[in-house]
Amino acid sequence: MKSFITNNALETIELGNKIGSLLVSGDVVLLTGDLSAGKTTITKGIGQALGVKKIINSPTFTIVKVYKGNIPLYHLDLYRLDGLNNDFDLEEYIESDGVCVIEWPFQVKEILPKEYILITLNRLDEDKRSILVEGIGRYEKIIKEL
Ligand SMILES: Nc1ncnc2c1ncn2[C@@H]1O[C@H](COP(=O)(O)OP(=O)(O)OP(=O)(O)O)[C@@H](O)[C@H]1O
Ligand SMILES: [Mg+2]
Repeated sequence: MKSFITNNALETIELGNKIGSLLVSGDVVLLTGDLSAGKTTITKGIGQALGVKKIINSPTFTIVKVYKGNIPLYHLDLYRLDGLNNDFDLEEYIESDGVCVIEWPFQVKEILPKEYILITLNRLDEDKRSILVEGIGRYEKIIKEL
């Protein structure tokens, strides 16, 4: 596990970029933290590293947004999944050839993969965030390179 403090959104994007540069097709990143902790912000950096050119915004109202890159990015936000129809097929994305970044992942605990990177963001003040990065399973090695 590695922990970081960022002092503004740009620093969080840079950390995301660093994490993204270590990812390959099929990787899964889970993001937890309160509203406005910076989950979507760190995803912007991950997307940069994957070669995504479009601006990454919150997928809150769409559950999933797909971005083309050198590796495709599937950006999911499961905050509102409760109450939606259950046809939503998370495995379709997790088993795809892209990188899957999931906000509010524990809405679907039962169907999460066994191995993933877990990033926990906490708001310390207006612009300061603590960011914990954990590698579960095969991702343990990657985290050491951060
Ligand atoms: N150090 C920082 N790291 C990340 N974001 C920061 C930081 N300082 C300020 N911010 C601001 O905090 C906000 C974080 O919003 P963001 O959409 O990334 O949060 P989120 O965790 O995805 O929230 P939600 O659960 O609503 O999707 C942005 O407006 C960003 O500019
Ligand atoms: Mg968000």
